[in-house]
Amino acid sequence: MKVPPVNLVKQNEAFREEFEAALREILSDAHFVLGPRLRKFEEEFARYLGVGYAIGVNSGTDALVLSLRAIGVGRGDEVITTPFSFYATVEAILLVGAKPVFADIDPRTFNLNPEAVREAITPRTKAILPVHLFGQAAEVERMGFPNVRVVEDAAQAAGAERFGRKVGSLGDVAAFSFYPTKNLSALGDGGAITTGDREVAERVRRLRVHCQTGKYVHEGVGYNSRLDEIQAAFLSVKLKHLDRWNARRREIANLYTEALKDTVITPYVAEGNLHVFHQYTVRVEDRDGLRDFLLKRGVGVSVFYPVPLHLQRVLREEFGYREGQFPEAERAAREVLSLPIYPEMEDWQVEYVIESVKRYYGKA
Ligand SMILES: Cc1ncc(COP(=O)(O)O)c(C=O)c1O
Repeated sequence: MKVPPVNLVKQNEAFREEFEAALREILSDAHFVLGPRLRKFEEEFARYLGVGYAIGVNSGTDALVLSLRAIGVGRGDEVITTPFSFYATVEAILLVGAKPVFADIDPRTFNLNPEAVREAITPRTKAILPVHLFGQAAEVERMGFPNVRVVEDAAQAAGAERFGRKVGSLGDVAAFSFYPTKNLSALGDGGAITTGDREVAERVRRLRVHCQTGKYVHEGVGYNSRLDEIQAAFLSVKLKHLDRWNARRREIANLYTEALKDTVITPYVAEGNLHVFHQYTVRVEDRDGLRDFLLKRGVGVSVFYPVPLHLQRVLREEFGYREGQFPEAERAAREVLSLPIYPEMEDWQVEYVIESVKRYYGKA
């Protein structure tokens, strides 16, 4: 493939020596779980985000589940979220036994529309779960309601900002994923929870070790969900480069937008947002035609996401959601196409993608 959707070999190759040194250290002290490398990464990540606490867990999905548990979401509660995200967002709500209530998206940003959120609030609403989709912050400041907590799904947006504040510090608690394709990624699964609330942080720390309060003493039902020492050490190495990588993503996005803005609907960056372009997602009416054409030319495009969450089987069958309820999310699912974007992309590859899109429309 001329332009693959990501190039992780190239990214990680640059750190081979630092990764090997980290591995040698871990092999010599054999401290694999809940040790000094995790503490160090948690401190670095919290400082980077400007938030009180960061707690490393197994995955972004676990980060969402533990966040919801830590603020007391459970059976009988409603959680308002977006119908346009990765399945884990809604799965976390289902896993803690709460009811997912969807509100439609703003078609310009693909993020939750705060007006639609307001209309979805009921006396049972315990939390709002906005997703900073594709690397752009949601309008969290417009989602403040009495007795309703905000849990940010920041899986795709490490380093993104809204009015100068980093995502992960905008709501009550936030979930990050370090899945290998994310902007800040581990060499395997990983995730983190961030919060400024000491009690929430303590609850998360207990939940990730079986609700343990003393040796073999457990005060509830928790999880085995820790970011291991090897991944924490790798993430410490990579965190130092996150801002530079995100700047390169923005540079590529600007090249795309400048060249394609008269051909397709290019991403809209809302006022106050520093976008980190986890994805560069355009909208077109003949999406499948453009996708097939680009794939044939060796351009690794992807559709995130072809099925909105309310139309996934469990949501239809158990909660009665139907087609037509969230028209903006449904239209986005039909029209979106993500072009390759990652810091290791070469300029000629960016040019090749631009030329290929233009060619489809007879403009090259
Ligand atoms: C928006 C969103 N939420 C949650 C997740 C779940 O993260 P993980 O794959 O680390 O469990 C992902 C990514 O996979 C995601 O993109």
